[in-house]
Amino acid sequence: MEKTIIKKLSGMVNGFRLQHSLAVRDIAVEMARCFGADGQKANLAALLHDCARDFSPARLLSKARAAGINVTEVDEMLPELLHAPVGALLVQEEFGITDPEIIQAVSCHTVGAVKMTVLDKIIFIADLIEPSRKGDLDKVRQLAYTDLEEALLAAFDFTLQFIIKTGSVIDCRTVQARNEVLRQKTPFLKRKF
Ligand SMILES: [Fe+2]
Ligand SMILES: [Fe+2]
Repeated sequence: MEKTIIKKLSGMVNGFRLQHSLAVRDIAVEMARCFGADGQKANLAALLHDCARDFSPARLLSKARAAGINVTEVDEMLPELLHAPVGALLVQEEFGITDPEIIQAVSCHTVGAVKMTVLDKIIFIADLIEPSRKGDLDKVRQLAYTDLEEALLAAFDFTLQFIIKTGSVIDCRTVQARNEVLRQKTPFLKRKF
């Protein structure tokens, strides 16, 4: 099954993307082992997370609108963000995958979400730290196999700092997802504001 999926994927994405997807897969499977997640689901979600990444902005927008995906103002400014929810559609339509956990992990891998499962977190982090990624990712890489919540927080921090540095727009779901990680941390719950 995996060979068939990789073959099909290689017809949908460029060579760089395929290598990235394979590298994310290796990390995600290892992280799944560390955090007790389903390795097969991690494998498939990681392999397919960027299956729509090489679609043109116009194609992403039209596909998203046709499928009734909520297209935000930020999506309109940065249509490539839609490769996540559109990818989640393709996972079902092109690859025949019906597992809701895999579909959700693909769908929220770019901006995150308030309610993220262990698998969602693994895919988000693995995508960010695969070896070809540049930038100060040491902290995320150090935490990725030992502390999922702290790794996720460091991943959101990196992402938001990168967005600001490059002068891009922030999707509010990333801020909400980061707030949720902080809310779940015990010291925050005990704090009196
Ligand atoms: Fe992506
Ligand atoms: Fe990716």
